[in-house]
Amino acid sequence: MMKQIVQVRAVLRQPFMGVMNFLNEAALRYPDAISFAAGRPPDRFASAECSARWVSRFVQESVRATNAAEEAIWQSLGQYGPTNGIIGELVCRLLERDEGMKPAPTELMITNGMQEALAILLLGVLRPGHDIMLCDDPSYVGIAGAAALAGVTLRPLQGPGSLPQRVESTLAHAEGELRPRALYVVPDFSNPLGQTLTRAEREQLLAIAQREGLLLVEDTAYRAFRYDGEVLPSLKAMDTEGVVVQLGSFSKLFMPGPRVGYLYADQLTAPAEGEAQTTLAHELSKVKSFVSVQTSPYVQAAVGGFLLEQGFTLTEWNRPRVEFCRNNRDALLRTLQEQIGDDDGLRQSVRWSRPDGGFFLTLHLPFGFGSHDVLACARDYGVLVCPMSYFSESAAFSSSIRLSFSNISAEQARTGVSRLRRFIHDRLAGRSPRRSSADHAVAMVQQP
Ligand SMILES: Cc1ncc(COP(=O)(O)O)c(C=O)c1O
Repeated sequence: MMKQIVQVRAVLRQPFMGVMNFLNEAALRYPDAISFAAGRPPDRFASAECSARWVSRFVQESVRATNAAEEAIWQSLGQYGPTNGIIGELVCRLLERDEGMKPAPTELMITNGMQEALAILLLGVLRPGHDIMLCDDPSYVGIAGAAALAGVTLRPLQGPGSLPQRVESTLAHAEGELRPRALYVVPDFSNPLGQTLTRAEREQLLAIAQREGLLLVEDTAYRAFRYDGEVLPSLKAMDTEGVVVQLGSFSKLFMPGPRVGYLYADQLTAPAEGEAQTTLAHELSKVKSFVSVQTSPYVQAAVGGFLLEQGFTLTEWNRPRVEFCRNNRDALLRTLQEQIGDDDGLRQSVRWSRPDGGFFLTLHLPFGFGSHDVLACARDYGVLVCPMSYFSESAAFSSSIRLSFSNISAEQARTGVSRLRRFIHDRLAGRSPRRSSADHAVAMVQQP
């Protein structure tokens, strides 16, 4: 049978659109390569083994709270249900206990991971072809993809200065239609840089947003993973004027497979004629109803039962996860120091960051690092890393790579860094790795 050629939208040809597939492909093609590329939670903590118990717990609690027949509750988990979800109240209690906020269930939407929350917010609030959203540079590739698909211009804030300073100076030079409407921000342990905003920077951002009418879209994906220093309040917890929409995820602190996140938007929307005023979260259910209809009630029940079991606080649950990732970070920092910091040939030219939390650190190399190098590293040296250029178009990041330490052992960290060190030495000595034509083709297609 003849296969038709289908033209897809030009946006799918943008280089960052292929980044995730490219890294997955490289991991599959070189399975023996030690991976510092994937931003995934530790495998050992991602078991879904207890799901049946959690779902049962949720069912029992629903029977108790509503007096409904158990059979009816089980049926509701297999049925279509409310667009914004069935565990909003339980997530509100979590946010109250662990984050000191007081959301109402009507201000919350349960989503298929945070990625869906990002997409829904962009589709429902920002006008395609008109509105501009600011973000840090570099930024999580998921916001770049979601904005591109929604037709929203994403403007990375390049250059020196703190994030509030860069927001301020950008707004000072933007008039009328060019005025940005929103800022996407990861205040705690960002992806990819692993950076955190100070309390003063949070206050400054809130003050700018209030003064300038800027919507702050806060991504809290890694917030629970703090290894050093004082826990700072989230932007939403500090928000007295309703300028922050908070997006949360159960991917890192529970597990990513179930795909559960939330959108917390307590703002009110201008009522359409004949309609009552509602919360932004409620209004956005119109978008969700056409994107995914709902988040699986069965999966929500598992998360709900889990929250009930934990008593609406994840402090104890998180402890071993945070400890595991802190140990990994420390093991990676130690091995970087031993193998690179103490190497006379590399000490001056290779630097790295020390994040206070999250899953990632940044390694700065003395040469540019792109897709060809990803493949060369994986194929010839057995180590997989992620170029920072996948998250930024700025030349300032063309020589940096992101190292993820969330899902590696100390032994893997040692071996992986020793392989990386060999690669760096070879590159500096001008010994270029061999290339197969197939790798060359992949790299050319995917080169951001
Ligand atoms: C900063 C950031 N935000 C959001 C997400 C998406 O999370 P989810 O799995 O809930 O869609 C990720 C995933 O890696 C992330 O790194």
